[in-house]
Amino acid sequence: MGGGVVALLWVSVALCSASDFPKNVIFGGACMDGCGHGFGGGGNRSIGGKGGWREEGKGDWKAEILGMARRLETVEWMTTVRRRIHQHPELAYEEVETNRLIRSELDAMGVDYRFPFAGTGVVASIGTGGPPFVALRADMDALPIQEAVEWKYRSKVPGKMHACGHDAHVAMLLGAAKILKTRERRLKNDAIAKYIWLRGTVKLLFQPAEEAGIGAKRMIEDGALEDVEAIFATHVSHERATSVIGSRTGPLLAGCGFFKALIKGREGHAGNPHHSVDPILAASATVISLQNIVSREANPLDSQVVSVASFNSGNNLDLIPDSATLGGTFRAFSNTSFYQLRHRIEQVILEQSNVYRCTASVDFFEKERFYPPTVNDHSMYEHVKNTAIHLLGSQNFMVVPPMMGAEDFSFYSEVIPSAFFYIGVRNETLGSIHTGHSPYFMIDEDVLPTGAAVHAAIAERYLSEHG
Ligand SMILES: *[C@@H]1O[C@H](CO)[C@@H](O)[C@H](O)[C@H]1NC(C)=O
Ligand SMILES: *[C@@H]1O[C@H](CO)[C@@H](O)[C@H](O)[C@H]1NC(C)=O
Ligand SMILES: *[C@@H]1O[C@H](CO)[C@@H](O)[C@H](O)[C@H]1NC(C)=O
Repeated sequence: MGGGVVALLWVSVALCSASDFPKNVIFGGACMDGCGHGFGGGGNRSIGGKGGWREEGKGDWKAEILGMARRLETVEWMTTVRRRIHQHPELAYEEVETNRLIRSELDAMGVDYRFPFAGTGVVASIGTGGPPFVALRADMDALPIQEAVEWKYRSKVPGKMHACGHDAHVAMLLGAAKILKTRERRLKNDAIAKYIWLRGTVKLLFQPAEEAGIGAKRMIEDGALEDVEAIFATHVSHERATSVIGSRTGPLLAGCGFFKALIKGREGHAGNPHHSVDPILAASATVISLQNIVSREANPLDSQVVSVASFNSGNNLDLIPDSATLGGTFRAFSNTSFYQLRHRIEQVILEQSNVYRCTASVDFFEKERFYPPTVNDHSMYEHVKNTAIHLLGSQNFMVVPPMMGAEDFSFYSEVIPSAFFYIGVRNETLGSIHTGHSPYFMIDEDVLPTGAAVHAAIAERYLSEHG
């Protein structure tokens, strides 16, 4: 989505670079009402697609889940948790107090968990302990941003802020834990097997380092997805009214990578160039060749970007330097295109340098800042959509366009079927209208009960359909 194209939907997902975010670009106006209101009451049991919504339990799961999420006591507790995390933001892999808080809340609920994953991550389990396993994920890390919002619970740590809503993600997932645990308990008290509420196990992943350090990848390496057959996660969005759910099937967020090349030649006097091997010429030719990848090799209908954003060499006007460095970023929406770009960038740099008798090496920072595209599995997307519509009504679900932002949730979606969705936090009265990564970012806390309910329902209905 090149420079001239305006109608992009920008959401507060982790970006490769915060500066990429246009300020206050507002998309659409399809503002839904009824956010946080008008829930409850009987469900439409015919919604839910082919599998249908089996109503094994006593009563109506929709009204019960919403009722639990919206109990005053639960809402106040989630709000307090969110505010405590907001006041004590911790950066990637430093989420020590955050995970301590999460574990103490899980302890209080009697929820089992394993710790640590990826250094500071926690994986909780609710249900029978057997298959099928379905996972929900919340990220925990904050950003190196000074909060500019003046409110009672602003960040107490100078230069750090939950400016991307991960504090709310944690609170909503803990809210879901409470709901699911209550329903699991009920199962245990219930003598009759047909009243089983959770027909399997829900794993709750509290993940570190989404903004930097690709915590998702390390969670997977530490076994967080063991036996898990599907995973879901949400992200707050200032683009949509409070509690409105948005998602789409297929590519949702771009893949985003960075590269830095070191091109080596041989130093020599600039007046006698034949005694040197010139890395500046090799690097210059490389920059031109890199520009041809997208223009000549990519399908024009498949959005891709390669940008060289850094070029450095030499500092003596009379000397051909030993080496040159260049670097930049690349983006793509399809997995194939993303990895193809990575492959061709490396190939072009190595071989173009070779043409000029130089040698080159390329670093793709794959352990720090490498995000494949986030691609929603069609049937998992359908599951989110059906659950959201059933729970909140069709006016509170919308299909959203893809965005250039990136998310490390993509590492999960590379391994198992998954769906990622947004939940609106926009409220003009409150002023929660600023993009993620803005020092003015804030949320409408009324989102918390809806988020908890949607999470819980997605997991419970998944187990009910697959158990
Ligand atoms: C239930 O959903 C079906 C299918 O979408 C629709 O035709 C019907 O009117 C709905 N009933 C109620 C009571 O909302
Ligand atoms: C994306 O491509 C990579 C590399 O080819 C592969 O390992 C991964 O499984 C692919 N992911 C999906 C979702 O196809
Ligand atoms: C926005 O927030 C205010 C204050 O909490 C609340 O009264 C109002 O109902 C909210 N608006 C919407 C559309 O949710």
